[in-house]
Amino acid sequence: MKNSDILKYEVNPGECDRFPINWEKIFKRAAPLAVEIGCGNGEFLVSWARSYPDWNFLGIELSLASGERIQSRIFSQQLENIRILRDDARFVLPELFADQSISQVVMNFPDPWPKERHRDRRLITPFFIDSLGGVLTLDGIFELSTDQEWYARKAQQLFSSNSLFTTREVEINPHREVSTKYERKWREQYRTIYRFQTVKSRNGQIKRLLENTIMPHVYLQCEISPAQIKMLKGLTRIQDHQVCKIKEVFSSPEDQAYLLRTVTSDRDYVQNFFILVARHDQGYIVKIDSGYQPYRTPAVKMAVQEVGRLLQATA
Ligand SMILES: C[S@@+](CC[C@H](N)C(=O)[O-])C[C@H]1O[C@@H](n2cnc3c(N)ncnc32)[C@H](O)[C@@H]1O
Repeated sequence: MKNSDILKYEVNPGECDRFPINWEKIFKRAAPLAVEIGCGNGEFLVSWARSYPDWNFLGIELSLASGERIQSRIFSQQLENIRILRDDARFVLPELFADQSISQVVMNFPDPWPKERHRDRRLITPFFIDSLGGVLTLDGIFELSTDQEWYARKAQQLFSSNSLFTTREVEINPHREVSTKYERKWREQYRTIYRFQTVKSRNGQIKRLLENTIMPHVYLQCEISPAQIKMLKGLTRIQDHQVCKIKEVFSSPEDQAYLLRTVTSDRDYVQNFFILVARHDQGYIVKIDSGYQPYRTPAVKMAVQEVGRLLQATA
């Protein structure tokens, strides 16, 4: 058995020609879509998908190791109605899903990040709730299970203050058909389990970063010296919620081409990639290197534009 047979369930957004993604094309059928965020080893997701063969299921998970474990599990059960997306749910939820395209979102035992200094890492925030307000169908459900009472109550309070949702009471030790690894861990320690559910009752609007993904290259009609390029190292720009920084500069032996290792952040979503500055006609072209394709976010566009602008200004 080849690795590619097993690792075929992961969706690569780089292969999609436009965003939000057409999920019916990915699953090769029209069906209600359910999403599990932070699906860990995939136990819950796989069992859920087996029970509802007429639905499509997507697991969003940050960890590479978990992503591979889930795919072996899907492969061994030969399920065709599951896909995995390895990325940060806070970014992909509003960006890769069209309005009213998800019928149910489940989050099982996320890290609650109780310390104030870690609040940026929490998944359930007013922005996340606004995103659900766009992408959930009318009457679509969001469900959180946790061993932390304060987290379940905080989620209830945040959803209650958003007019798009009708919230339910937090349930204590609810009956759950399928348990997860973390759920078993907490139950073994005799911890109480809390479940919070909310229903979307009105549609909301979300502003997407990837709405206009066209990436203009920058063409320079001038000569560029190695010294000019070297000066770009450390370049940092901050604008609204976007940050870009050039971390390193590499040159080809004949100095005909340069690669700039770049880091960007849009609303805390970080991407690492290279900007290529290469000879083109009588001048140079500045563009994203094809090796690793980042999402064309405003910070990525800002990085390319800034490199072009500075090279032109110092020529
Ligand atoms: C505490 S584990 C729970 C795993 C599983 N749901 C369970 O109950 O056993 C939290 C999981 O969420 C994933 N995760 C954390 N932040 C995430 C994010 N922003 N987007 C997607 N997955 C995330 C982690 O990689 C981890 O697998």
